[in-house]
Amino acid sequence: MTLNEFYRRCCKELDFSGDGSFEALCLFEDLLNISKSDIVKNELTLTQEMKNTISKAVDERKNGRPLQYILGKWGFYDRTFFVGDGVLIPRPETETLVSCALDFLKSKKSPVVYDLCAGSGCIGITLAALRPDAEVYLFEKEEAAFYYLLKNIEYHRADNAHAVKCDISDFDASRLPEADIILSNPPYIPSGEICSLQKEVINEPHTALDGGVDGLDFYRIICEKWVSKIKNGGMLAFECGENQSESICDIFNGRISDKKIIYDFNNIDRTVLLRI
Ligand SMILES: C[S@@+](CC[C@H](N)C(=O)[O-])C[C@H]1O[C@@H](n2cnc3c(N)ncnc32)[C@H](O)[C@@H]1O
Repeated sequence: MTLNEFYRRCCKELDFSGDGSFEALCLFEDLLNISKSDIVKNELTLTQEMKNTISKAVDERKNGRPLQYILGKWGFYDRTFFVGDGVLIPRPETETLVSCALDFLKSKKSPVVYDLCAGSGCIGITLAALRPDAEVYLFEKEEAAFYYLLKNIEYHRADNAHAVKCDISDFDASRLPEADIILSNPPYIPSGEICSLQKEVINEPHTALDGGVDGLDFYRIICEKWVSKIKNGGMLAFECGENQSESICDIFNGRISDKKIIYDFNNIDRTVLLRI
């Protein structure tokens, strides 16, 4: 079998994902360092070792392991983040939080940023990299996710990003400086809906998904424990699930001076901005 024939067979086997050619190409590029033009030219010899590596990855995919875990990394805001078991894969819709924060912080010198429920650190580390004058604190409870958070801070050489391993529901933040902005993409799936999620998503950690009965537990925790850590005129920026934005605004009622809801490319109310 030639390299090209093997590639086409993998595309077919991965078709269940909705884009078999894309997934097969990611595997060939990342696991074998073979480019699209190598495949088209078909001049390389397909070795048994190459076949074994890709076949193992294709089998893992068929068993529902996310492509990003197999590759071990994924892109977010033009940067690469290490991912694997126990950490949420960065999503493109979360990039909106970063854009909103950059916009809000434009006029502020040496701002303080908190990223609550940081996971891989994609939000906070991106901000730390793009705003080297900022001090960014990233809070994460789970051991497995914290491992990737530290690894990504190191990879991005983000000396101004500070990882804090804690439960945000009982952390004493009194010794930290007040924040200009608190960002969070917390777990927000209602507990009862988790089992009906796509196979790949269920393979991501439930601790990163489960937001309690109505999905809003973490917004309540943040309202109760963290709003007081925001400077006057500061901002809270959240990601949320479909139709949660109004309830989130209600939770913060009386503690905010303004609110804005941003819809994603599927017209879902995905980002909530609250002015303190
Ligand atoms: C939806 S994920 C978001 C990860 C990352 N911010 C992103 O956007 O890709 C939520 C994260 O919150 C963490 N988490 C869950 N409960 C927590 C708690 N009580 N305190 C701190 N982090 C928590 C989970 O481990 C997970 O990494």
